[in-house]
Amino acid sequence: MLTTLCDNLVLHGWSQHNLFLSKELNALLAAECITLHETNGLKLARVGQGDQMTLQTRIRSDQIAWLHAGQSIACDTYLGMMERVRVLLNQTLYLGLDDYESHFSFYAPGASYSKHVDRFHSDDARTVSIVIYLNDHWQTEQGGALRLHPLDCPTQDISPMACRMVVFLSAEMLHEVLPATRDRMSLTGWFRRRTNA
Ligand code: OGA
Ligand code: MN
Repeated sequence: MLTTLCDNLVLHGWSQHNLFLSKELNALLAAECITLHETNGLKLARVGQGDQMTLQTRIRSDQIAWLHAGQSIACDTYLGMMERVRVLLNQTLYLGLDDYESHFSFYAPGASYSKHVDRFHSDDARTVSIVIYLNDHWQTEQGGALRLHPLDCPTQDISPMACRMVVFLSAEMLHEVLPATRDRMSLTGWFRRRTNA
């Protein structure tokens, strides 16, 4: 699985893996995201970085909660899996990734995130983006696809089904989140490399 991930990243700039999470871990992470939602633990996401951070709900209308080590067994298990992916990416592709940051995202029906790349203009540390979906029984007709705009092939629409992981290069891959007719939950994260910024 992880060899395919590296090959796809090099060849196409992205990679998709179904059943990356076990059903059990997916259920625990989904329950944690729902609890955060119900206890006002999620905040409207902002666009930009540092002083430039603004609320622009026409660009982005999801709600997020940043993860920190030790917050739950499920999150620590997920962070442990990401650590193994980080080491593998460094061993295979020499990316020099030294850090991972991640948040839960919750898109209420109709919420979306318009076309963007994940790397900031002012900080080029974000190198590889990872999105993991937590939504049981997702039907394509419910919308909510992650739409990738790769340079070398047609647009790809990826439904946010439970246990699925999508990985792409943060600086290059233009992407967007289409609105859905139901709640849409994910874990989004970025491997960062050390920079002089
Ligand atoms: C993001 C993002 C994609 C998704 O949070 O930057 O592009 O499918 N998320 O949730
Ligand atoms: Mn993004």
